[in-house]
Amino acid sequence: MDHRPPGYGTTARILHWLVAALILAMIPVGLVMVRDGLDRALGDALYLFHKNVGAALIALVALRLIWRLTHRPAPLPDSLPGWQRAAAGLSHLALYALLIVMPLSGYVRVRAGGFPIESLDALGLPTLVPRSEPLADAASALHEAAAWALIALLALHVAAALHHAVIRRDGVWARIWPPRGR
Ligand code: HEM
Ligand code: HEM
Repeated sequence: MDHRPPGYGTTARILHWLVAALILAMIPVGLVMVRDGLDRALGDALYLFHKNVGAALIALVALRLIWRLTHRPAPLPDSLPGWQRAAAGLSHLALYALLIVMPLSGYVRVRAGGFPIESLDALGLPTLVPRSEPLADAASALHEAAAWALIALLALHVAAALHHAVIRRDGVWARIWPPRGR
């Protein structure tokens, strides 16, 4: 018998927490690596991590989107007011949009600037954008603005999750945690 609480399937849970862990590492690494006066070796290591984990996120987010579009989660509990359902739907949609914009704008910024992405280069994958400073600058501005939007939305997302887990205790937290279910 399946004792797993209803909600998201095991694959959706694993994808949520794997992507979450990587994003929660990418944000501080990104914010630190752009600081002036950073030790050169540390800066290089952080850029290496950021570019290559970011490239892996393009594939993970694509997988997650395909999975989500083909596997609908069970409905939210009836006790949840309509406005909170709407807020959850809208904020999740915005999170997905930022999950697409962040790695793609990062990719364009690096490639248009003429820089390597070591993992993709090792796989022999060609560069998909032309070398262009204006394009690199535009992608950089978008990447930074989207990063702040993501940070703000994540603060809301985590606060809402904690509210469900600790105060409401309405089963919403159990819909996505624990990753392995039973
Ligand atoms: C500590 C960090 C996090 C916590 C506590 C958390 C918690 C949750 C919870 C409880 C849900 C289930 C909501 C429901 O039942 O409908 C959820 C869904 C979701 N989370 Fe997170 N999350 C975290 C990090 C993240 C991160 C970093 C992202 C991506 C940037 C993210 C994106 C999403 C999305 C898009 C959904 C909606 C899933 C769907 O319906 O397809 N979460 N999260
Ligand atoms: C979801 C994935 C990603 C997140 C959350 C993220 C987050 C961030 C953050 C917070 C910053 C600092 C913002 C600033 O003040 O400029 C940053 C900068 C940067 N990111 Fe990302 N990033 C992601 C993906 C990528 C990818 C895939 C690449 C390249 C392959 C990349 C390349 C860069 C570069 C080069 C910078 C330095 C800013 C610049 O020179 O324009 N990022 N990122």
